[in-house]
Amino acid sequence: MTIDATVPNVARMYDYYLGGYHNFAVDREAAEKILAIFPDTPAAAHGNRRFMQRAVRHLAREAGIRQFLDIGAGLPTQGNVHEQTDGRVTYVDNDPVAVAQARTLVEGEERVSVALADLREPETLLADPHVAGHLDLAEPVAVLLVSILHFVPDEADPWAIIARLRDAVAPGSALVVSHLTLDGVDAAPAQRGTQVYRRSNAPIVPRPHRDIERFFDGFDLVDPGLVWIGQWHPVPGEDATSHGYGGVGIKAS
Ligand SMILES: C[S@@+](CC[C@H](N)C(=O)[O-])C[C@H]1O[C@@H](n2cnc3c(N)ncnc32)[C@H](O)[C@@H]1O
Repeated sequence: MTIDATVPNVARMYDYYLGGYHNFAVDREAAEKILAIFPDTPAAAHGNRRFMQRAVRHLAREAGIRQFLDIGAGLPTQGNVHEQTDGRVTYVDNDPVAVAQARTLVEGEERVSVALADLREPETLLADPHVAGHLDLAEPVAVLLVSILHFVPDEADPWAIIARLRDAVAPGSALVVSHLTLDGVDAAPAQRGTQVYRRSNAPIVPRPHRDIERFFDGFDLVDPGLVWIGQWHPVPGEDATSHGYGGVGIKAS
């Protein structure tokens, strides 16, 4: 496995925001630049994790979903998907370190698998033995794209990628998305933040609400729709700091 410790890596930067230890000096340096511009980034990252956890529990409870495909799962941290449900879970990431760490964490857990695959190649991802051999796509699956789509540029057509995933899963399946936005952020800090990520392994593409909502084409958005992450089924008293929008949709039959 090759690890490039000279280029800031978005998985490791995110790990640093969450207070993890799977990061190098180059990641911390880039993350600190973001913290200088947006000091509430750790609160927003923790809020994003809580959104993911609420969405998984909601889908298990309200929609009876028993299978979860978490793409861009990241470095394992606290409150992972398989800790929110007793259903089957497949973690996917294109970062070999995240995948290796996840495999170590879930070793011996028969209901959890981990795939090294890239969202930008959905056919290969769906055919990966850790996905196809672990989940039954004829039964509903929740596809989690939590804080990953803003690393997929418009040129890679993330809308078409989601349409491919939607067509591969059974009716009653779900789509969970959280996505960075710069809606409401002044142009100067927005530009400085984007610049920092331009030097990382995955430049960031914040999107406006209307472009994120289009990811749900072919899905019925669960109430309250696509909203600030902290406002999606909030738990009273929890910090609602949000740097993006979150939503959950159910595939129309
Ligand atoms: C910000 S982290 C999000 C982690 C987790 N989903 C969460 O929200 O807490 C983004 C993750 O997406 C992964 N990623 C970025 N682009 C990807 C791609 N094209 N295919 C698969 N994973 C990707 C990164 O390696 C990283 O682990």
